[in-house]
Amino acid sequence: MTYIITTPLYYVNDKPHLGSVYTTIICDTIARYKRLIGEEVLFITGVDEHGLKIQRTATENGISPIDHCDKVSKIFKQSWTEWNISFDKFIRTSSKHHEKVVNEFYEKVRESDDIYMGIQKGWYCVGCEEFKDNPDNSPLTQCPIHKKNLEWKNEENLFFKLSKYQKEIEELVNKTGFIEPKERKNEIINFVSKGLKDFSISRTNLSWGINVPNENKHTFYVWFDALLGYISALSLDEKDFTFEKTLKLLWPADIHLIGKDILRFHAVYWPAMLISSGYQPPKKVFGHGFLTREGQKMGKSLGNVLDPNILLSKYGVDPVRWFLLKDISLGSDGDFQDKRFVDIINNDLANTIGNLLNRSTSMSRKWFNDSTPTDFDEYNDEIKNISNETVENFKKNLNDYKLDLALNNILNFAIKINLYLNNEQPWTLIKSKEETQKVKFIIYNVLESSRMIGFLLKPILPSLSNKIVNQLNVFYLKNLSWTEQLRWGLLKKGSYLPKPNPIIDKLDYE
Ligand code: MSP
Repeated sequence: MTYIITTPLYYVNDKPHLGSVYTTIICDTIARYKRLIGEEVLFITGVDEHGLKIQRTATENGISPIDHCDKVSKIFKQSWTEWNISFDKFIRTSSKHHEKVVNEFYEKVRESDDIYMGIQKGWYCVGCEEFKDNPDNSPLTQCPIHKKNLEWKNEENLFFKLSKYQKEIEELVNKTGFIEPKERKNEIINFVSKGLKDFSISRTNLSWGINVPNENKHTFYVWFDALLGYISALSLDEKDFTFEKTLKLLWPADIHLIGKDILRFHAVYWPAMLISSGYQPPKKVFGHGFLTREGQKMGKSLGNVLDPNILLSKYGVDPVRWFLLKDISLGSDGDFQDKRFVDIINNDLANTIGNLLNRSTSMSRKWFNDSTPTDFDEYNDEIKNISNETVENFKKNLNDYKLDLALNNILNFAIKINLYLNNEQPWTLIKSKEETQKVKFIIYNVLESSRMIGFLLKPILPSLSNKIVNQLNVFYLKNLSWTEQLRWGLLKKGSYLPKPNPIIDKLDYE
């Protein structure tokens, strides 16, 4: 069984913003964790390249849509490499392969008698690429999300019979664990209970899209096309792919991780499309919250957009990952504040985790011949028990997608070990000869705890984890799984410890 996790396929109207970095980092952490616990993982990301928004952006830039898409898609792919994202598949919806999948899928939905021609009238937001609800028929002037004028559309479109799937979708959205978090689930249940309406899946007067077979002038609606990217990604590198075979082998996806604004598409429209074509809906759709900056919505007009590239070059990958994953509970909105960011990194990573490692390796080197302690008695299981409990809670929280709690498990463990060190005061005990055994035991406990912290951080902060492990002169053993290496006591007694280097620099708040 392959665990399939997806990010949204990002619009290429612009380069990645902090919101897209946020979603991708979450998926990356989960994907890394699943791999470490021994699951086969397929981590899918990619770009959504068709539609009116992209066509207009290309025109504004004076280039053809495909040239524009080539350019921005490359930036996305490059960015994910710079952010150390361990994606397995990167799908572009302008690819020939994807077009083939869309056509095949459309044929299946048509065979289910779920497509008909109709007239689509309504107010459209090009930013959302979505018709807006307008219950009282009064013209909505602006999109509440994009704050841009809506456009009136009245054209012949192909429709998908969403209404036919009312019962199946009602059951699905009520199913435990399908939509998370709870508040979002209730929004969707409420939306579905009002009665599902058929939605248009093609556009006329829009050339930048996939042509609908046998329907001159019609291209597929960008959402119909884009959602199928999750499926085309599965067979991206297969030469003789067959739709049936790939889906049988790999579908359904385990989780679509998306922002709350696109939940309806993933939890309602997409499952109905899949049911119509004879396939299963995804197992879970998780709608995360929105990021604001210093309490304000980020926007070009407000001039407060936080460029992730600047964060990357100023602080590097790991501090940004730690902040976004620890400070925001998955599902809730979060705020990026510069001062809070600097304080959290200095406090958690530099002072608590970094210092613990630095102090303990320095003491051990000084007192025990540049090595970890050896030849000592075990006095009690206090720290070993705390460590085992931390590992269990950490795994449980990651399995439940409670990333912030999992990170706090690591941090609280480090806080407790710092406290243990301060209470035991080995620097006082070392002065009397008869306490040497005890000092050895304390220092071993602290060093072994640091190793645990290093290993636990592997899916969260891959490079900081490496630095910690190197500093302790231990390695990720090939013959033991990651989980097995989280067993207490694997730090070799009497092994060489290199001279400590700070694993992370303290940040300045400008
Ligand atoms: N192309 C569609 C997705 C198609 S999936 C088959 C799309 N793209 S998007 O680029 O506009 O948005 C991608 C993701 O970024 C969405 O999940 C959206 O919720 C998220 N975010 C956009 N702004 C955001 C914040 N300010 N904060 C957090 N996430 C945000 O929608």
